[in-house]
Amino acid sequence: MGQDDKRLLRTLRGGRCERPPFWLMRQAGRYLPEYREVRAAAGGFLDLCLTPELAVEVTLQPIRRFAMDAAILFSDILVIPYALGQTVAFEEGRGPVLAPIRTTGDLSRLSDAALHDRLAPVYETVRLLTKALPQETTLIGFAGAPWTLATYMVEGGASKDFATIKRWAYAEPDSFGRLIALLVDATADYLCKQIEAGAEAVQIFDSWIGVLPETELRRWGLDPVREIVRRVKAAHRDTPVILFPRGAGLLYETYAAESGADALSLDTAVPLGWARSALQGRCALQGNLDPVMLVAGGAALEREAERVLRQLAGGPFVFNLGHGILPQTPPDHVAQLADIVKGWKI
Ligand code: CP3
Repeated sequence: MGQDDKRLLRTLRGGRCERPPFWLMRQAGRYLPEYREVRAAAGGFLDLCLTPELAVEVTLQPIRRFAMDAAILFSDILVIPYALGQTVAFEEGRGPVLAPIRTTGDLSRLSDAALHDRLAPVYETVRLLTKALPQETTLIGFAGAPWTLATYMVEGGASKDFATIKRWAYAEPDSFGRLIALLVDATADYLCKQIEAGAEAVQIFDSWIGVLPETELRRWGLDPVREIVRRVKAAHRDTPVILFPRGAGLLYETYAAESGADALSLDTAVPLGWARSALQGRCALQGNLDPVMLVAGGAALEREAERVLRQLAGGPFVFNLGHGILPQTPPDHVAQLADIVKGWKI
């Protein structure tokens, strides 16, 4: 099977298929009992991400059940701060906890000297997956965008108001810019190495860009990501890049015009008629079913999935969620959604 026979790759390159390809953000995870089993045996969450045999197994779990058109490498965006030397822990019920980086002085605690040695297990996972996946399934690599990574690195974990990172970025942009520059370098190299190991497309998650005002969003969201896309494309021009600037609002249009990405992943709030006319002529679109529809299931899920398909499947479109699957999602509802998308005729 040639690369362009794979539904996801063909669509990301602007081609047409008999139905849209689909995969789901966070398709591997706690909503699957078989994931919870491997997770419990792995010990820590980072151990799971950095043990190739286990990471391969949990990557394949949703594919076995639902035969998505793409598998996303199982890892986490926070392996980059870990590989740069920051202390990263995942605590039950609390999410990620990091020893915060908040000043120019703190930056000296980060170093890219061991970056790729520490990330070697991720590259090995990618290599193993290229052999383990069904031939029609596309392998997606991924990374967090610099701003989103920085929110965890500076706030020390999840945040409600992002006041610490914003204050640093607004009051001392040159100093904060050094952190972003380090993350641009690390992320571009990381994505290139995933592609060299066998990732066929990559997605960049900028999950927290929507908290910034316009000029700051351009500076800390769009500009660093555009540079990463440029570097990835310079080394691997045929590898599609999907970008998820969650919460960018009307600036999705600027991302479509300026980011260089092949596809934009729409968050749940993006109006689809607008997306079709303002964005879909410029790049492929992905999204944007509310993950809670997948928790609801039944008639609500069917109605909403069909609305998304009706609005966007006429152009280059990858069916997905507007954000990651929630842990309380019943696996049966994912099966229902897979049937709806696979039965859709363009
Ligand atoms: O299936 C997949 O999508 C691949 C794996 C994947 C994970 N995280 C696994 C994971 C991917 C692509 C991510 C991306 C990620 N990680 C993002 C961007 C997407 C988004 O959701 O906005 C972010 C912001 C993170 C950081 C992160 N990792 C947080 C905030 C948390 C805690 C919240 C939570 O859901 O527990 C994680 C942990 C995490 N990453 C889990 C999984 C399966 C749960 C960990 C566990 O098993 O306990």
